[in-house]
Amino acid sequence: MCGIVGYTGSRQAYPVILKGLKRLEYRGYDSSGVALLKNGELNVYKKKGKVAELEEFMIGKNIDAQIGIGHTRWATHGEPSDRNAHPHHSANGKIAMIHNGIIENYALIKQDLVKKGYQFTSDTDTEVLLNFIEDIQTNNACSLEEAIRIALKRVTGAYCILIIEKDNPDTIIAARKGSPLVIGIGKGEHFLASDASPIIEYTKEVVYVNDYELAIVKPDELILKNLGNEKITPYVTKLDMELAAIEKGGYEHFMIKEIFEQPSTIFDCLRGRLDAKEGLIKMSGVDENIEHLMNANRIIIIACGTSWHAGLVAEYIIEELCRIPVEVEYASEFRYRNPIINKGDVIIAISQSGETADTIVALEKAKDNGAFIFGVVNAVGSSIARISNAGAYTHAGPEIGVASTKAFTGQLAVLMMVALDIAKHKGSITEEKYAELLNELESVPEKVDAILKNADQLKAIAEKYKSASDFLFLGRGYNFPVALEGALKLKEISYIHAEGYPAAEMKHGPIALVDENLPVVFIATKDLYHEKIISNMQEIKARKGKIISIITEGDNVSSEISNDYFCIPATDELIAPILTVIPLQLLSYYVGIAKGIDVDKPRNLAKSVTVE
Ligand code: G6P
Repeated sequence: MCGIVGYTGSRQAYPVILKGLKRLEYRGYDSSGVALLKNGELNVYKKKGKVAELEEFMIGKNIDAQIGIGHTRWATHGEPSDRNAHPHHSANGKIAMIHNGIIENYALIKQDLVKKGYQFTSDTDTEVLLNFIEDIQTNNACSLEEAIRIALKRVTGAYCILIIEKDNPDTIIAARKGSPLVIGIGKGEHFLASDASPIIEYTKEVVYVNDYELAIVKPDELILKNLGNEKITPYVTKLDMELAAIEKGGYEHFMIKEIFEQPSTIFDCLRGRLDAKEGLIKMSGVDENIEHLMNANRIIIIACGTSWHAGLVAEYIIEELCRIPVEVEYASEFRYRNPIINKGDVIIAISQSGETADTIVALEKAKDNGAFIFGVVNAVGSSIARISNAGAYTHAGPEIGVASTKAFTGQLAVLMMVALDIAKHKGSITEEKYAELLNELESVPEKVDAILKNADQLKAIAEKYKSASDFLFLGRGYNFPVALEGALKLKEISYIHAEGYPAAEMKHGPIALVDENLPVVFIATKDLYHEKIISNMQEIKARKGKIISIITEGDNVSSEISNDYFCIPATDELIAPILTVIPLQLLSYYVGIAKGIDVDKPRNLAKSVTVE
């Protein structure tokens, strides 16, 4: 949450920062701002609202500077407003800072500073940290760098901070703990950002800064140190990402672009790993650690949001194919419980961003207890990828729309391959079933393509039901987590209240909501439970609920009971979730659009939740 950008070099800093903020806007968009430094003059401009509002506000302002920092905010401490927007000035006006994270002991620090006469112009924890740094610098008569080091040793919480100082015309000081920071290395210039998207246009050489590291960044020099003031050699890596991947490419929104990318992202995910003809799955992360995985007493899946839903599907698949007990945990719960982790337990962490704060802390806890961590992550080089002992990337490419779509189907494809690979090694799957599932998995991109060709049908359904105030999503077996995901998607981008339930459980409560105004979405593909779900559809119909169903091609029974239906190609029930979720993504998108919602940036949400 919160996006940060910094630049120092010979270009005009503001256009670089502004473009970077637009690319990072998915991380938060309730206010934004920039601080620009030129000839000892430090100008801070900030505005409530999206980055476009800052851009308009900046017309006519003095933007001439070769160094600057910028921020797009997702509010934690203090409501979204101009005064709480970053950057913040220190009390003496000499330093400006942006911050992504939460300073947990800010209240105590603030009390001390207030006693010393400090006055605050915002409600943020950021301004407290900044004045704390200023106070240390004044009292100790030390450099800013030294003051930052001392301050960071005393604060608790998470941060990525960028600081510029009036008297230091070309230097940005940055530090991180728990919130991401990437530094792009150009010729005589450096770019700093929360992720690589603001950097990729200028350079592919980057350094991922680690927790408890401090970066002193000048146009020609990058010095990394730990909080003990010891130098660290920066580890430069090459970005494997193209600019086109982070642009809309002719689509109206990132979300619809990402939905339509799924045939190719799933193909990329399977490529080089799955060969149905040869009957092979090659996943180095699995193969090299097969003893750990195959002999796991238990697998605990840890994730949040949509990734947690992928974990629920994986639970069903792994238990079915590998016969290993699986538990799926919300990272935010796991981290504060006193969970039992035994030797021989394997943790699977699922995360699109690889930066979700709760997931990171939960993994650190599990790792401290000796668990083996297998990461299923989309963002290459992210914190979770680095914490994991082994893993498999989803290769879905950058996902920018706040509602996760292509990352989810990538996660399902990876988790399916992981399960198949373990099952094959373990001998818990028959040759026939293995071959059948490999063939089915290989045909998924084509089937997704076929679904997307009928997207207009979902647009029409969305138009019909867009005014509903509630929705129910029901599914059984492998499609139960898809029901949860369908409800989450709709909530996120249409602001319509929606609940996902196991279809049979619906009788224990939600059925009380059913009347002629309630649309009930059934994920009712042909599988083991088909007849049972038909009965559930009849139960809703008898109470006049409106049935929208996702069914398998040729299923005349379900289509007849439904008010509206959408057909998907037949597939194995284990693979069905990768297909059934796609009409639900489209339905949510079209409802959101029909209601005039900014689907890429729905209110209150952020793509990367880097605070707990
Ligand atoms: C946020 C996003 C969701 C995402 C969840 C977990 O809530 O809006 O789309 O599923 O975080 O994020 P992760 O990056 O760990 O998958």
